[in-house]
Amino acid sequence: MSAPPAAFAAALERVDEPLELVERAMREQLASESDVIAAVGDHVLSSGGKRVRPALLLLAAELCGYTGPRRVQVAAAVELLHTATLLHDDVVDHSPLRRGRPSAMALWGNRRAVLAGDFFYARASSMIVEDGDLDVLWVFSNTIRLMAEGEILQLQRSFDPSVTEAHYYAVIERKSAALLSAASEAGAILGGVTRAERRRLADFGRELGLAFQIRDDALDYEAGSEVLGKERWTDLREGKVTLPLLLSLKRCTAAEREAIESVLKTAARHDHEERQAPADGDLAPALEIVARYRGVEDSVRRAVEHVERASAAIAPFPDNAAKQAMLAAAEFAAVRDR
Ligand code: IPE
Ligand code: IPE
Ligand code: MG
Ligand code: MG
Repeated sequence: MSAPPAAFAAALERVDEPLELVERAMREQLASESDVIAAVGDHVLSSGGKRVRPALLLLAAELCGYTGPRRVQVAAAVELLHTATLLHDDVVDHSPLRRGRPSAMALWGNRRAVLAGDFFYARASSMIVEDGDLDVLWVFSNTIRLMAEGEILQLQRSFDPSVTEAHYYAVIERKSAALLSAASEAGAILGGVTRAERRRLADFGRELGLAFQIRDDALDYEAGSEVLGKERWTDLREGKVTLPLLLSLKRCTAAEREAIESVLKTAARHDHEERQAPADGDLAPALEIVARYRGVEDSVRRAVEHVERASAAIAPFPDNAAKQAMLAAAEFAAVRDR
């Protein structure tokens, strides 16, 4: 995998030490009577992952004046929660690759991957309960609900070319931005700042999260699996109408729209009959139209606008090293290539 942009790497360095402790805290949570759970846990925790959410939580807490030990516990819970959602998401999306390796569902099958995901959800909840802050617990439980809703909303409109931007945003706000917002807000709660300041941190994480997911959706049309660690064009194959395709659908001719609809129909047929996924050649007409109408470039531009909103949300805070690192993390979200 390629290295993250320098500014983001520097931001991560700032929280190097607590992140090490976060790794250790997560490992401690893997202990289980079941050797499958221990094996799945070891597989996902040792396969990398950018650790964006715990890093964000650590930095947000520092920005809000807290650098004590509770940071590590809550940050580990956030990353375990993220791990649980990835285990479930790869089942929902039929994704064979994750972080450059076979996904847990590919190695252990859907049933075990789902149950291991449940185990991680439970471990994350226990860690928050152990921390004992009801505000953090509320933010977490609300986020789990939102993420489940986001995944289902997306599933319900798969293969549907009439999906609107409003629907797309409703999905990504829930499935991705909610957790990044929760990480940032939990940092603020640990810092004991005012309600208004807490709102600012939540907004920062939300805008960063929107940029992060829009970039993810652009990368799906852009990068090869060797860079991204997951397969390319899976969104189109799975019938997800994401921003690059949505923007192209808005701009294209009636004939081009029909071509996209026909690609989505082919993909849906494969999905319903549980046949092999559509071949790259089946997708080509839609890919060409997305390229013609600059769907990827304009999506990235949209991601950059969300980064600007994220920066504005924390503008009133003192201009210290934690804030600089958070701004670098937000910029990374929109331009990352992994
Ligand atoms: C993947 O998140 C899911 C999305 C919200 C796009 P990440 O890109 O943060 O995944 P890892 O943890 O670094 O593998
Ligand atoms: C990201 O969903 C959000 C969650 C994992 C809940 P995606 O399906 O877009 O993420 P990737 O591309 O599989 O990482
Ligand atoms: Mg997925
Ligand atoms: Mg998904």
